[in-house]
Parts: sequence; structure tokens; C-alpha cells
Amino acid sequence: MPENTHMAEDQSPEKSSEGDDAVKKKKNPKKNKKGQAWAQEGPRDPFELLDALPEHKQQEIQRALHLFSLGQGPPKNLQDARRHNFRFWNTQPVPKIDEEVTSHGPIQPEMPSVREDCYSLPQGFCWDTLDLGNPEQLGELCTLLNENYAEEDDNTLRIHYTSEFLLWALCPPGWQREWHCGVRVNSNRKLVGFIGAIPATVQIYDTERKMVEVNFLCVHKKLRSKRVAPVLIREISRRVQRQGQFQAVYSTSAVLPKPMASCRYWHRSLNPRKLIELNFSSLTRNMTLQRALKLNRLPETTKTSGLRLMALEDIPRVQTLLNEYLRGFHLFPILNQEEVQHWFLPRDGVVDTYVVEGADGVITDMVSFYTLSSTVLNHLAHRSLKAAYALYTVTTATSLQQLIEDILVKAKARGFDVFTALNVMENKTFLESLRFTEGDVHMHYYLYNWRCPNITPDKVGMLLK
Ligand SMILES: CC(C)(COP(=O)(O)OP(=O)(O)OC[C@H]1O[C@@H](n2cnc3c(N)ncnc32)[C@H](O)[C@@H]1OP(=O)(O)O)[C@@H](O)C(=O)NCCC(=O)NCCS
Repeated sequence: MPENTHMAEDQSPEKSSEGDDAVKKKKNPKKNKKGQAWAQEGPRDPFELLDALPEHKQQEIQRALHLFSLGQGPPKNLQDARRHNFRFWNTQPVPKIDEEVTSHGPIQPEMPSVREDCYSLPQGFCWDTLDLGNPEQLGELCTLLNENYAEEDDNTLRIHYTSEFLLWALCPPGWQREWHCGVRVNSNRKLVGFIGAIPATVQIYDTERKMVEVNFLCVHKKLRSKRVAPVLIREISRRVQRQGQFQAVYSTSAVLPKPMASCRYWHRSLNPRKLIELNFSSLTRNMTLQRALKLNRLPETTKTSGLRLMALEDIPRVQTLLNEYLRGFHLFPILNQEEVQHWFLPRDGVVDTYVVEGADGVITDMVSFYTLSSTVLNHLAHRSLKAAYALYTVTTATSLQQLIEDILVKAKARGFDVFTALNVMENKTFLESLRFTEGDVHMHYYLYNWRCPNITPDKVGMLLK
């Protein structure tokens, strides 16, 4: 799931010189003296301070810290996850957070008997399977997600899902209405929760499996921390299991038991001035705006001849290119022609795929990305931010670096502000050289009811929308 992230505009190795610091110290001698006096009087580090307290005080503080950490949402790193009590996830068929997984296969091998009835919701709420073909219900889902799904901590950017995007993401070939699972308030029918699943054929190491991708888990902000999410997860699992499928793949920035792969978002500024004004990227000590603009400048035109938007007749060739390429990874989707058409044939404002057609008419390369815009909150000059998210890139004739640079040129010309990619597949080979900078959000991949050894990002060949 994409999340808004921050990036530093300069990760260049230029360090501040000692001279700089000396000037600063001289400029404010009073402040420095005060600081030194404080440092000499007080304890040198917080652990010393803690150690100096009697045992019972230390325990009180520990209890208070634990209480404060409750209700702060799921852990964001492995260290916190090791301390977290996964009341829900520890009951599910997933590896334990500290488990060293060396085997492959289902965690609940036998077919569980699947309950017929829906799980119980808290009083005052009811299930409602959404009909996304109904514009009113689709609109309600847009509103729920846009107001509650993802937002910067500092309340500056909010992802804006369009109806077209949600239809693309939630209704691929083989989609089932039962898997668009909503929660409403009984009294006024307001939609306050959602979880979605879509069918996928996924290969994990040597095993090909029909399963689902679970996405868009969302609970209204006013209903948080009331254990509604576990009910939604249980209910979607039940509905999927009723259809005879027992595995799922999902991704989130939260650290849950237990990531099978952990990846990272990288961002390439296409409109550095705007990103800096929005605080999406920041200028570091030695980076002026002028320098950032210069460093992020792109060529005016593309270099690859035969680069054009994918058309309907390219579907069989794109399918072959993709399926052959993806075989080199440990986790990847296997796509039929209908799925290739759905996921890659360009749709305005949703997904774009470019192909390279050689002089002999053969398609040799492809590159795709999807569009997600964010609404800018509380800013005088800017209303929205347009981001492209890299999907798959397959090259057989063009260099990966050149094709991605060309796609950056195209994206910039089409008004995108930033191009985002995960460090999956071969992306690492171009991220730094093409001036992507590492974002602060990790994306962890999970499998439900399937155990397998960890997969490094360069062996992940799957992207979840
Ligand atoms: C994710 C979200 C639905 C969780 O709801 P909540 O009200 O905070 O959490 P609840 O009290 O209902 O449930 C807590 C349980 O859900 C788990 N959980 C929280 N976020 C989760 C996630 N993204 N995926 C799976 N489980 C998650 C918690 O770990 C906890 O289980 P535990 O006891 O085993 O640790 C809610 O925070 C939300 O809508 N966030 C915005 C959208 C979002 O980030 N969605 C996830 C993207 S994949």
C-alpha cells in the first residue's frame, strides 16, 4: 500500500566543515556556555538518570511507558514488534515474530472447516458487501478511504483515491463482490470500515498457488483501537476460505508477525521546487534550492527510439515479457492475458505502460507505473501532489537505466511531481544513479497461512497496489 513519505533532497556526502561550526559557536557564545554548564551539572545520559532512581520508581516508569505505547497503533520496527503483545496476530496462521523460518508450506495444512456465519461486530454496526458497480457505493468507499486511509502525521498530505483507481485496484478479472467487505453504522448506514481482497496466482519460491491479495483495510478514525480491524481480517479470511482459498498476500508499513520481505520506498523529484515548498522533500545543510533544481534536472527528450504507450495488440507480447522476467524472483504473480490487459493497458489517471518497439516491430521492453494523487492540506499555493508509482520494468534490448530515465522524462512532461519506486527487483541498480532518495517508509510483505524463508528485496517480483 502506498503511503506518503518524506525524503531528504540531499544525501550528498558533503559534510559541514569544522570552520562552519567554529563560526556558529562564536556567533552565540552565551548559549554555548549555558549549554556546557547544564551538561556538567546534570546527569550525562538518561540511562544514568534512570539507574539513579530506586527500583520501585523504575518499575512505575516502565509500566507508564507500556501504557502509553498501547493505542499507538502497531509497531513500526522489529525492535518494537519483539516487545509488542500481538493479541490478535498470535492467534492467526502466521509465523511468530522471532521465528526463524527455514521450511516451505501451509501453516494450517489440513482444510479447516469454514464457518458459515459472519463474525460478530460490536453492537451498533453491521456488515455490508459493497456493490462497486453502484456509483453511490463506490463514492462512499472513496470518501471513507480519502478521509481515513493514509495521511501524513503532520496533517499536510492526504492520498486521494478516485473511483477509476479503486475499480482498477479492486475489480481485476475474477473479482468477487463478497470480497468487498464493508462495515456500516446501523442507525445511519454510514460506511465506517472496509477490507478488500482480489484473486491472484502467486509463485512463492517453487510453489504456484491461487490466493488473494488483501488491501484497503480501513477503519474510520472515530472507531480506532476498538478491535474492529481483527474482525475485518477474520471476516475476509472466512469469505476467501469459503471459496476454497487458504493463502493471502498483503503488505503494510506496520511490523506484524512476520514479514517475509521488507522493502523501502525511494522517491525521485520531478518538481523539486514544489516538493520542497510542500515539505515533502527538504533541503539539507549544503543544498540550496538552485542546486536542488540543477541536480534534479532531466533531459528535455527521451533517448530510446520506438518508445510508445502500450496498445491492445501488445498484450500477448507484454505477457510473455513479464512472465519470463518474473520467473527469476522468489515471489511474483503469474498473469494471464486478461490480467495483463487489466493491470497494464493504459487508463487515464490510473495506470500507464510504455513499450519499446524495435525496427522489426517486436516489443523488446516495457515499463509501467500507476498514478496516485494526494490532496495538499492547509497550503496557500498548492492544492495537490501527483505521484507515479513504479510497477514492472522489463528490458531485453534497452538499458534499465536509460528506460527509467526516459520514463522520468515522460512523467515530468505529464505533470507528475514525484516518481516513487520500491527497492525491489533490479530497481537498486538505478535508484541512486538516477537521483532517487530513500524515503522513510518501509513496506513489509506478508503471507497468510504460508511459511517460507525470508526474501531479500531484490528477489521480490511482486507489487501490491
Ligand atoms: C489499520 C487499521 C484498520 C487498524 O485499526 P485500529 O482501530 O487501529 O486497530 P484495532 O484496535 O481495530 O486492531 C488492532 C489489531 O490490528 C492489527 N493491525 C493494525 N494495523 C494493521 C494492518 N495494517 N494490517 C494488519 N493488522 C493490523 C494490530 O497489530 C492489532 O493486532 P494485535 O493485537 O495482534 O497487535 C486503522 O488504523 C486504519 O484504518 N488505518 C489507516 C489505513 C491503514 O493504514 N490501513 C492499513 C494499510 S495495509
